[in-house]
Amino acid sequence: MSDQAIVAQAWDLLEKSIIYYRDRPVGTIAACDPDSAALNYDQCFIRDFISAGLLFLIKGRDDIVRNFLEETLKLQPKTGQLDCSKPSRGLMPASFKIVSVAGREYLKADFGDHAIGRVAPADACLWWVILLRAYVVSTQDMALAHREDFQEGMRVILELCLVTRFDMYPMVLVPDAASMIDRRMGLYGHPLDIQSLFYAALRISLKLLIPNQKNEYIIQAVHNRLGPLLRQLRENYWLDPDRLNIIYRYQVEEYGEEALNQFNIYSDSIPFYRLAKWLPPAGGYLAGNLGPSQLDCRFFAIGNLMAIISSLADEQQSHKILNLIELRWNNLIGDMPMKLCFPALEDADWRIVTGADPKNRPWSYHNGGSWPVLLWMLTAAARKMQRTELAHHAIAIAERRLIQDQWPEYYDGPDGRLIGKEARRYQTWTASGYLLAKELIANPDHLKLVIDDD
Ligand code: GLC
Repeated sequence: MSDQAIVAQAWDLLEKSIIYYRDRPVGTIAACDPDSAALNYDQCFIRDFISAGLLFLIKGRDDIVRNFLEETLKLQPKTGQLDCSKPSRGLMPASFKIVSVAGREYLKADFGDHAIGRVAPADACLWWVILLRAYVVSTQDMALAHREDFQEGMRVILELCLVTRFDMYPMVLVPDAASMIDRRMGLYGHPLDIQSLFYAALRISLKLLIPNQKNEYIIQAVHNRLGPLLRQLRENYWLDPDRLNIIYRYQVEEYGEEALNQFNIYSDSIPFYRLAKWLPPAGGYLAGNLGPSQLDCRFFAIGNLMAIISSLADEQQSHKILNLIELRWNNLIGDMPMKLCFPALEDADWRIVTGADPKNRPWSYHNGGSWPVLLWMLTAAARKMQRTELAHHAIAIAERRLIQDQWPEYYDGPDGRLIGKEARRYQTWTASGYLLAKELIANPDHLKLVIDDD
């Protein structure tokens, strides 16, 4: 099948997923699979909409993105409350749907109060800031970001993320399952996927916040946080053969400011022999999580790819991450780009860490499954570092399967050969992720929507 035919079908799927609120397009539903229970897949998820939103901007359909940004902003709580039954000030919902009451339409948000496992999203508010910047770059409509309701929205997001809680680190502290991986997967604390988005959102906010008296304290707080956050992530999350050698010989139980092994990582907790074999000399990546006596050595795609895109990873690190993807292609890309996380948790680890979750059994779904939506992030990262051949290759692999498999949500198996056991078909972000990757390849100018290098 020609790639034009694949693109045409993907657009068709995307068009059909658009939802209208009071006659205006406001978002896209997660999936249109006629044969699976809708659960909440008939809702518009903020994270799912990002690739669609970027694509709409590229195609001049700014209205949808603007409506989405305005309506989701209205859903965000603006007042503080000490009431655990209400979402926190600044939180953005994971998803929303349109409901009709007495003939009038309303938007009903899910902040995690309905979601499976009652998980609240930490990523939604960060993605929202990233999309707002893309909208401003694409339309030059800075007036929208400068509107007082948008300024307030950003302030409360930043307050929510920057407030000091029960830790003393520059990273943002979140519960497990607070992102695309919205089930228990050992991601409580300081997971990389959230830290990368946090870093990107902090940098963007400095560009979008008006330097006035109302914003002064928050702008100062962002400045104070960026340096330590960047250092912590670039230094203490980074894993390459040299770092492995250092960590292998770490002293432990050090007290005080001079401690080298600040987190008291015990060598025995790290799978050195597997990693020493797996990590090629030219490769490296940012670890999945860091906390007291914990360095999660799993590879997480969103965190690493967004680190390249947002320049959280420096130039050399960015190349090393792409080298790793290239040299461990069978593991990380295989038959469908690409693994959300690698390797899978198995046996007792799977039982203890996921709570024996059958949807996340080894090499399925979030636990080592492959997600075509990641194609756009891989393409943006590769294109940014002038490694476009990696993106071409990955897109060609996806093109062999997506139509025939009816645009599945995810794939299973160590090489991604099986259509996900519980995957929805006609999943919107599978189509929009693919289309966005094609646009980024066709015209590198579109990279400016997500990449900001000055
Ligand atoms: C699943 C995914 C989540 C996604 C949602 C809608 O819950 O884990 O990341 O946003 O489906 O597609």
